[in-house]
Formats: sequence, structure tokens, C-alpha cells
Amino acid sequence: MKASIPLVLVAACSFSVSAGAQFAKTEDAIKYRQSAMFIQSQHVARLGAMASGRAPYDATAAVANAEVVAEISKLPWAGFGPGTEGGKAKPEIWQEQAKFKELSERLMSDTEKLLGAAKAGNLDALKAAMGPLGETCKTCHDTFRKK
Ligand code: HEC
Repeated sequence: MKASIPLVLVAACSFSVSAGAQFAKTEDAIKYRQSAMFIQSQHVARLGAMASGRAPYDATAAVANAEVVAEISKLPWAGFGPGTEGGKAKPEIWQEQAKFKELSERLMSDTEKLLGAAKAGNLDALKAAMGPLGETCKTCHDTFRKK
């Protein structure tokens, strides 16, 4: 009986792949990726405030925020599937998939480093990790997001 559970999971997964989309409607995919980006930005802003001295450095809060950022930075990409053009996403995303993927992977690697820096528990490490992260946000927005 136990052995049949993974098979059920595999069947469920392959069904959703063959169905071609994880979202019922294009608008849902757009809303999903925008929501993930929005939540990410709120937590990045809290870390940015600490890094720039606008908010007092709080090591525990830094880790909590960096954990959210590291996790949520994995989410938006599922919302950029085939046929989900719209929102402020430039059509180039679907024409230059390799470049877009590279930037999304850079973001996930930056946010892992940010989490490591937050866990190191010192403000200088946090500051050092925020710079490259901010650059990655900006590079992708300049290239792939409409003004
Ligand atoms: C690989 C590309 C990429 C990276 C990296 C990226 N973004 Fe985005 N972001 C986008 C795109 C594309 C949109 C527009 C999505 C849409 O409107 O459908 C967007 C939209 C947004 C929005 C607007 C969401 C809304 O409510 O409509 C915010 C805020 C945002 N990004 C913040 C960030 C922050 C902060 C970072 C870095 C920590 C970041 N993004 C990194 C591509 C990226």
C-alpha cells in the first residue's frame, strides 16, 4: 500500500505537466508573478533599510526577512509560462528565454548568498550581499519589464 503513494504523486505531477499550464487563466499567472515580486520587494526593502542605516540593524529580523526573500525568489518564474504575455512583462521574455532564465537563476543565487550573509549576523556582510542583489533586480527590470 505504501509503495503506491509515490506512483500517485508521479501521476499527479505528470498530469499537470501534460495539461500545459499550472494556472487556470493567463490573468492568474500574471497576478501570481506580480504578487511574488511584490512580496519579495517588501522584504528586500526591509533589509535595504537596515543595510543603509535607515532602520536599526536587527540580526534576527534580518534572517527572517532573508528567509522569505530566498524562498519567494523561487516563485515568480512559474508565472512566466508559455502564452502568459501581459502585465508589465516585455514580450522579449518569451523570445530570449535563456537570458531571462539566467537572470532568474542569478537572483536565486543572490538571495541564497543574502541569507548566508544574514545568518553570519553582521551588518557588513548584509550590506555586501545587498549590492549584487539590487543590481540583479535592476538589470532584469531594465531588460524585461515595461516602464
Ligand atoms: C529575471 C527577471 C527579474 C528579476 C531578477 C527581478 N524581477 Fe521584478 N519583475 C520582473 C518582471 C518581468 C516584472 C513584471 C511582471 C508583470 O507585470 O507581469 C517584475 C515586476 C516587479 C514588481 C512589480 C510587481 C507588481 O505588483 O506588479 C516589483 C515590486 C518587483 N518586480 C520587484 C523586484 C525585486 C525587489 C527584485 C530583486 C530582489 C526583482 N523584482 C527581481 C522581472 C524580474
